[in-house]
Amino acid sequence: MATDKWSADDYTTHASFVPALATEVVQMLAPKPGDKILDIGAGDGILSLAIADKCAHVHATDGSANMVAYANSRVAAGKVTNVTTEVVDAAVDIKRKISAGVYNKVFSNAAYHWILGSVTSEQQRAQAFKDVYDILPSGGEFVVECGGHGNVGEILVALVAVVKTTWAKRGAKKTTADIKSKLWPWHFATNDEIERWLVGAGFEVEVLERHYRPTTLNGGYGGMRGWIETFGFSFWDGMSAEERESAIDEAVELLIGSDWLEREQKWVAGYVRCRFKAVKK
Ligand code: BEZ
Repeated sequence: MATDKWSADDYTTHASFVPALATEVVQMLAPKPGDKILDIGAGDGILSLAIADKCAHVHATDGSANMVAYANSRVAAGKVTNVTTEVVDAAVDIKRKISAGVYNKVFSNAAYHWILGSVTSEQQRAQAFKDVYDILPSGGEFVVECGGHGNVGEILVALVAVVKTTWAKRGAKKTTADIKSKLWPWHFATNDEIERWLVGAGFEVEVLERHYRPTTLNGGYGGMRGWIETFGFSFWDGMSAEERESAIDEAVELLIGSDWLEREQKWVAGYVRCRFKAVKK
């Protein structure tokens, strides 16, 4: 089994803006007292708990056992009775682990770019959406926000550049295609892809939007390093600890040009959000 590289501590320190910026997608979900909601990629569970205040039940799932354990500790600490948790890899596990007809809404914030990036083919990505369709009852809703095409493009370019130079120092050549297929964990889908997979699954698409949302990272100058350590862990596979540290330093240095605001002493990353609501008729 692959090592779980997610750290709940890093996530709460460097990614607390993720649930905080989810107002629009939660409004689109519009949780109601009778709703039973499956939350896919629930991370630290903060949003699941907030949604659970307004509905009957939230099943908070994530592919990372570390994050699920953390979400579970929040549920226990808050003595919350209408949130359950489970480790579910949404690219492959939905039909194996989630019974059909139990949840009338499937919700996800900031996770589908990981789920779609964990598989490689068009067919697998289309299937991930079809699996959600299959477990929803008729009238069920699929409400998602995730990174869209072009998301954090400048960070990606910097990470690819430093991976190439680090391996080149060892005399090894890594092409962008090598990095994309083996180390790059995300798929930032276009709206055309999303529409194709939703309609192909049988959904009716009610809303499908893409927005540029410049996003201030947590912390001051250390914020970009924190973001890269929290989310970019797969780029360093095969490197020594020293190589990784100096590659991250170099990426941060490159990103000063695009994302560092000297006067405000903060990092603003180029987030692009894709948001959609699809209904099973
Ligand atoms: C995002 O929410 O867009 C995102 C988060 C971490 C890594 C990449 C993208």
